[in-house]
Amino acid sequence: MSMRIDIATLFPDMCRQVLDESILGRAARKGLIETHCHQIRDYTLNRQKQVDDYPYGGGCGMVMNAQPIYDCCQAILAQFEEQGRPRPHIVFMTAAGQPYTEQVARELAAQDGLILVCGHYEGMDERVIEELADREISIGDYVLTGGELAALVVADSVLRLQPGVLAEPQGYQEESHWNGLLEYPQYTRPEEWRGRKVPGVLLSGHHGNIDAWRAKMSLERTKQRRPDLYEKLPDELKKV
Ligand code: ADE
Repeated sequence: MSMRIDIATLFPDMCRQVLDESILGRAARKGLIETHCHQIRDYTLNRQKQVDDYPYGGGCGMVMNAQPIYDCCQAILAQFEEQGRPRPHIVFMTAAGQPYTEQVARELAAQDGLILVCGHYEGMDERVIEELADREISIGDYVLTGGELAALVVADSVLRLQPGVLAEPQGYQEESHWNGLLEYPQYTRPEEWRGRKVPGVLLSGHHGNIDAWRAKMSLERTKQRRPDLYEKLPDELKKV
């Protein structure tokens, strides 16, 4: 069965718009992936449909209540069960979560399904995270107004790894971060643009030389731009 990702959010339309476009939209229409967005507010039990409240202990901002998030996730879990799917991995998007990397994307891509939970306001009641979360993920050391953009980053990077989503499976294996390296520079026509020429080796048709040049460029770029990644490479690679 194709991978299914559900987003629980106060802004389902925003998420749906992104998931229905471009490569992921096409993949969903072909049945290669399944995506759904759910309105957390639909699960409130109060007449005002309020989803947040003042923080215990004081402080600025509002905190999202545990109950509507919990009930929304339970409804999604029931849908997975109805489809005969295993229980999906539940991921909360928070700035305090585990740093997101391509390695984490690959781990999540091996799951049958994911629920991505988006907070808003100053945060979520910690107890719903304790109750449900298999993981908490942060997409970087900065603060967003909500988890939606983070959930979309995770959905995009995980779904593109699903079979058939990218035209060429090699597509992602030569990209930045797949093997711990940054990608080599790419060029297309024309051969000269504003006085800048495409490196001659790429026009040579000699595949051995082209591969060697790309490997060297990848390594040099990684060393210059991301010394932190370069340090982690195996020694054999660094010798090139
Ligand atoms: N919510 C707010 N900031 C975030 C971040 N950096 N990553 C994930 N979710 C967030």
